[in-house]
Amino acid sequence: MKQTGSGPPHSNAHLLACVATLLSILVISARAQSLRENAQMIDSLVGELPVGLVALPDPPIPGDNQQTPQKVELGNRLFFDKALSADRSISCGSCHDPKKGLSDGRPHALGFHGTVLRRHTPSIWNAAFNASQFWDGRAATLEDQATGPMSSPGEMNSPGERELVQRLEADPYYRAAFHSVFGESPTLKDVAKALAAFERTLIARDSRFDRARGDKRALTLHEKNGLVVFIGKGRCALPQWREFHGQQISKYRRWAGRR
Ligand code: HEC
Repeated sequence: MKQTGSGPPHSNAHLLACVATLLSILVISARAQSLRENAQMIDSLVGELPVGLVALPDPPIPGDNQQTPQKVELGNRLFFDKALSADRSISCGSCHDPKKGLSDGRPHALGFHGTVLRRHTPSIWNAAFNASQFWDGRAATLEDQATGPMSSPGEMNSPGERELVQRLEADPYYRAAFHSVFGESPTLKDVAKALAAFERTLIARDSRFDRARGDKRALTLHEKNGLVVFIGKGRCALPQWREFHGQQISKYRRWAGRR
């Protein structure tokens, strides 16, 4: 059969493939160039950045819940103790798992008897610095927050204060520790105080991000680019947080309520 096109059938396809390859090389090298430029910008800024890039200070401690090593130890024990849930099946640490960045590695939290909760478990590293607690900021302090998951039927389904106090009283360590730390038998209020004291020790300090201020090689090229997006287009840096926790919070709460 006679060929009707101009030239061999594969030549157009070949030309197209060459152009496409050339274009991708150009796009990739332009992207690599901008990644390098962003990283250089971060390198030149790290010493002066107004937000982050310094090790966190000690968190604020409320006057009525001073830290003591014994209180922190008590809070640590309570945090990982499944006796805080009705059938002793779940502890705070089941969802805020130290092996998973004090979260649970799941899109939605899994509560009492496998109840899938509506929200994701936030990491509680540095929660001591939050202006308020929970995604919608509905608890003012760590002390206020701590009783929430215990009493929620879907989360830990706590046995109720009376039964919980009996359980703690029956344990020689708890009986002695509550008396020594709070000067009284266990109460729900003191459980919350001890948990909060423990949580105020969960401060992440020596990360590569913390070291970036003095060491330009602490972050990788892509991490530096992530930081550019975080501070720039993402508008995630501190001033926006303040806005969220101030005027934006009621708007956010209305939005969150519809989820
Ligand atoms: C079933 C999983 C689960 C358990 C158990 C659990 N949490 Fe949480 N935690 C969550 C989820 C989900 C949220 C977010 C809920 C929301 O914002 O409405 C949360 C939020 C928090 C926050 C707020 C953090 C922030 O950044 O706002 C703190 C603090 C916290 N939990 C501590 C505790 C403590 C203390 C206990 C034990 C008494 C506990 N959690 C038990 C899943 C859990």
